[in-house]
Amino acid sequence: MKEKLQKIKEQAIAEIEKSEGLEKLNEVRQSILGKKGELTAVLKGMKDVVPEDRPKVGQLVNETREAIETVLQERLKKLEQEALRKRYEAEKIDVTMPAKRQAKGNLHPITQVRNQLTDIFASMGFEIYEGTEIETDYYNFTALNTPQDHPARDMQDTFYLSPEFLLRTQTSAGQIHVMEAKKPPIKIISPGKVFRSDDDATHSPMFSQMEGLVVDKGITLCDLKGMLEEFVKKIFGKNVTTRLRPSYFPFTEPSVEVDVSCFQCGGKGCKLCKGTGWIEVLGAGVVNNKVLQGCDIDTDVYSGFAFGIGIERIAMLKYGINNIKLLFESDMRVLKQIDE
Ligand code: DAH
Repeated sequence: MKEKLQKIKEQAIAEIEKSEGLEKLNEVRQSILGKKGELTAVLKGMKDVVPEDRPKVGQLVNETREAIETVLQERLKKLEQEALRKRYEAEKIDVTMPAKRQAKGNLHPITQVRNQLTDIFASMGFEIYEGTEIETDYYNFTALNTPQDHPARDMQDTFYLSPEFLLRTQTSAGQIHVMEAKKPPIKIISPGKVFRSDDDATHSPMFSQMEGLVVDKGITLCDLKGMLEEFVKKIFGKNVTTRLRPSYFPFTEPSVEVDVSCFQCGGKGCKLCKGTGWIEVLGAGVVNNKVLQGCDIDTDVYSGFAFGIGIERIAMLKYGINNIKLLFESDMRVLKQIDE
């Protein structure tokens, strides 16, 4: 019996020592100390041992069991430590490693310019009105003194959705909504997308405008000129001045085209201003009485001025972009350069 137990012990210890994982160790324990284990079988066989030998054999079995348990515990501890060491190793962080660079984004040039324009006008006390991109023929044309057969409709190639609805061709449509909803004094800008069937290096079927409208007592072309002077200095630099040229828009009378002195050559003449010293930047004028009257505004008391700015055009001038498509192609090489 003694030899048998000695053999069980030796075998068990050998197996414990070579078991690699916690699971394997558990298996070994079961095969020796478990219900159907070898040592348990010896205990079960005690009934066949003569009574006077039983205490001795019992003691031997217990000693063997304890010896195996001790080795098992040691092995368990070792394996656990090993597992912990491996985990620490795997989770190790090198705090001296340089941080990953986080790529920094910037706003799209159109958004940048729109925000700059908005800031300038907001600082002059303008409120913001955002219209809708789908408009009716009435708001986009008729109410702006451009009835059905008016030749000025040819100035803008329109995307019609139905005879009544269209994609707005100009943010000017917003003027009418504002004047219908609010009585003077009115001082608003209206930024947004507009649409025209037009496509070349300087035109895109979708582009952005910013409309401006001021209606109050005693508003004249002088107020417009004064405000524009202030505006162009803020956007193009303090040495830039304006020049008004006669033009035509159905909803303003008189109408003007606004030029700025070339901010690149200072007016001497260069490639940007095509040698003229002046650059056209926007359309404007004194609001046509017919438009005011259509919105129930008393033209004996009130008058107004309006202006429309092409946002892409300003962006192209400011950042020296010669093709409007560059603003819509999302080419990172272009977009990365423009971050004000
Ligand atoms: N709506 C005109 C266009 O898209 C721009 C414009 C010109 C707006 C004169 C105005 C204005 O408010 O007074 O071509």
